[in-house]
Amino acid sequence: MDATFHDALADADLAEGQARALILNGWPVLLCRTNGAARAVINRCTHADSQLSGGRIRRGSVICPDHGAIFNLETGVCAGAAGYGPLKVFATRVMDGRIAVAVPDTAPGPGQSPVRTPRPG
Ligand code: FES
Repeated sequence: MDATFHDALADADLAEGQARALILNGWPVLLCRTNGAARAVINRCTHADSQLSGGRIRRGSVICPDHGAIFNLETGVCAGAAGYGPLKVFATRVMDGRIAVAVPDTAPGPGQSPVRTPRPG
């Protein structure tokens, strides 16, 4: 599947431990900074399809705000015993002070967009 980098955010606007929810070429993207690096994954948990935005970023992972599954932001793999499927990971790059994210050239399908917002805390 071909992918193209899309401008996302000024590098200076994403602090360590922060995450931003974006739509790039129709794809729901969660752009995060962890361990100094910009990482991007699909903003849809593989458990019950909730948005991951609003989840805490810790030690290279995002914690789903709905039921607490932990996903590695570099590999997308779900940690621990939950064993949910991996998140789709998007490549990132920083050029001229801007973060760009590579998302597929084709539009996302219905199985690739979040369908639930997390329950109120
Ligand atoms: S929807 Fe993410 S852990 Fe349940």
